[in-house]
Amino acid sequence: MTTPCIEFKDVVAGYKDFMILNDLSFSVPTGSITLLIGPNGAGKSTVLKTLFGLLTPKQGHVYLNGEEITGSSQKDLLAKGIAFVPQGRNLFGQLSVYENLELGGITIGMKTTHERIPEVLEFFPRVKERMNSAASSLSGGEQKQLEIGRALLLRPKVLLIDEPSIGLSPIVVQDVFKLLRKLSDQGTTVLMVEQNVKSALKYSDDAIALESGRLVLHQSAAEILADPEMDRLFLGASVKV
Ligand SMILES: Nc1ncnc2c1ncn2[C@@H]1O[C@H](COP(=O)(O)OP(=O)(O)O)[C@@H](O)[C@H]1O
Ligand SMILES: [Mg+2]
Repeated sequence: MTTPCIEFKDVVAGYKDFMILNDLSFSVPTGSITLLIGPNGAGKSTVLKTLFGLLTPKQGHVYLNGEEITGSSQKDLLAKGIAFVPQGRNLFGQLSVYENLELGGITIGMKTTHERIPEVLEFFPRVKERMNSAASSLSGGEQKQLEIGRALLLRPKVLLIDEPSIGLSPIVVQDVFKLLRKLSDQGTTVLMVEQNVKSALKYSDDAIALESGRLVLHQSAAEILADPEMDRLFLGASVKV
């Protein structure tokens, strides 16, 4: 069996004494897109925060390519190739697009950052045209693209992305999903939280459903999309297609 890119083994994690993830175990293969789904408060964002070192598990183990990373610092995790695009807007609005990218390269040094910025901007022609504009003047979709671009500067092996579609029009959302698909086809492992489940499943390989911090389903995206019962159970009536 090949070593998974990401593995959670019996992870218990939460905030102070309040545990959110309960004995959570799952693994994610290299170069795939795995979608994390489940109701609000299920612990999806907590999984990403645990992987990015924002939370230290109380129990259990987290592995990256077979190497234990439980409790590693964010600096070490960045150096190992994990990048995180959190939910919401995370740019310096008054700084230019270019300056926001420069700030994304703090851990790799300015020389390397300047070398890589043009290559990242090739993914986002609209953002590239606005390189010297204030980040706040970009559309919501362009701002999310810039955030993803900033993460890509690190040439991440693993991209964690939390609800990228919030506030974006359906067409722009498809562009974001297509970009994630392209990155994963080039070998990046993507773990994505997304409420736009049906749409996101079309671009994903697998889905993991959480309920109250426990895994209730781990299946291929194609199987879930093809199964009417899954549709009822996990996609629900509120799903936007
Ligand atoms: N910083 C925090 N401090 C205390 N509790 C938190 C914090 N962040 C999230 N929680 C709680 O943890 C639970 C899971 O949250 P989260 O992982 O954000 O859920 P999801 O992303 O699935 O909606 C929720 O009950 C939430 O209120
Ligand atoms: Mg969340």
